[in-house]
Amino acid sequence: MSTAVITNIGELATNDPERDGLLGLLHDAAVVVDGSRIAWVGPAAEAPDADVQVDAGGRAVIPGFVDSHSHLVFAGDRSAEFEARMIGEPYTAGGIRTTVAKTRAASDEQLTSHVARLVAEMRAQGTTTVEIKSGYGLSVPDEARSLAVARQFTDETTFLGAHVVPADTTPEDYVDLVTGPMLAAAAPHARWIDVFCEDGAFDVDQARTILTAGSDSGLRGRLHANQLTYGKGVQLACELGLAAVDHCTFLSTLDVESLRDSRTIATLLPGVEFSTRQPYPDARGLIDVGVRVALASDCNPGSCFTSSMALCIALAVREMRMSPAEALHAATAMGAAALDRNDVGVLAPGKAADLVLLDAPSYVHLAYRPGVPLVSGVWQQGRPVVSG
Ligand code: NIG
Ligand code: FE
Repeated sequence: MSTAVITNIGELATNDPERDGLLGLLHDAAVVVDGSRIAWVGPAAEAPDADVQVDAGGRAVIPGFVDSHSHLVFAGDRSAEFEARMIGEPYTAGGIRTTVAKTRAASDEQLTSHVARLVAEMRAQGTTTVEIKSGYGLSVPDEARSLAVARQFTDETTFLGAHVVPADTTPEDYVDLVTGPMLAAAAPHARWIDVFCEDGAFDVDQARTILTAGSDSGLRGRLHANQLTYGKGVQLACELGLAAVDHCTFLSTLDVESLRDSRTIATLLPGVEFSTRQPYPDARGLIDVGVRVALASDCNPGSCFTSSMALCIALAVREMRMSPAEALHAATAMGAAALDRNDVGVLAPGKAADLVLLDAPSYVHLAYRPGVPLVSGVWQQGRPVVSG
């Protein structure tokens, strides 16, 4: 196995808790990669020799983004729905059914090549770990194949049969299907189970039933909650000790206290508020009381069709008052924590060699230069997958 040293790094964000500050920043640094792992991190002047040398030219290197929430397995286009929203229509959960019809009609090959295209788009923008949900099949075979497609691209697959109740069934019958035959067909392809707990989707009792059934089948829980309305979803997630509860847009004082007193991560998805014209979640208020916050894209055809974690960082800084350091940390180390992973999101010996070279002197440029493609190199598991 060959070794590589990336040297002359002007600013290195390690996220290593053993180092100073939230980001464990180093200047004039080097990273040595051995196979798929990081072997050494430190001052460039002290870097050990390696088979291959890469000169970062004084630019910044950050950990690859960990996008812990996406819905990439779908077919069809909902830009008309977005256009209608931008001239006054509200976002509703019902749009999901439009995508379900298109997804069911697509072939396995069409779904696979569409996911491949989106994963490549993410990688080119610095995302090296991505979670992918099902949820646009909503039948036993269509949920199982959605997850089988997703599994070709990531181990972080999530069964979201409980996205909405399909048009041809009752909520009671559908919950029975999701917790019975659909779960049995999905479980071999999934690591996680998720429920859209919201008005127009599933209530908190249904969410509890589905999450409990998932956990009995060996799937770990995560939850969509409090996206469009206040509700009990966030409290359920904290009570069940889920790894993450996602959206958290409408939070009561009790919700914030529940998050503060739990280990559950609040994953904020500011691209959704941008694309639905909703108010942004109160990231500042959450962080100030000690809630663990992650950022993710929620890339999906309805509420937010961006694959850009850099955009999420820029929105988090500008619109949710996170500092640039908090936003980068939330998009990397906290994304990893939201997936219960400690091998990614941190640049330290033994961790995955998932790194991004920015065409900028500092990570701050991710928010300072919104909309500008700054990613000029990506290594995934030590392999250069983007170079420029
Ligand atoms: O996370 N909230 C539920 N699911 C997606 C949107 C799905 C859609 O509109 O197609 C979300 O926002
Ligand atoms: Fe989502």
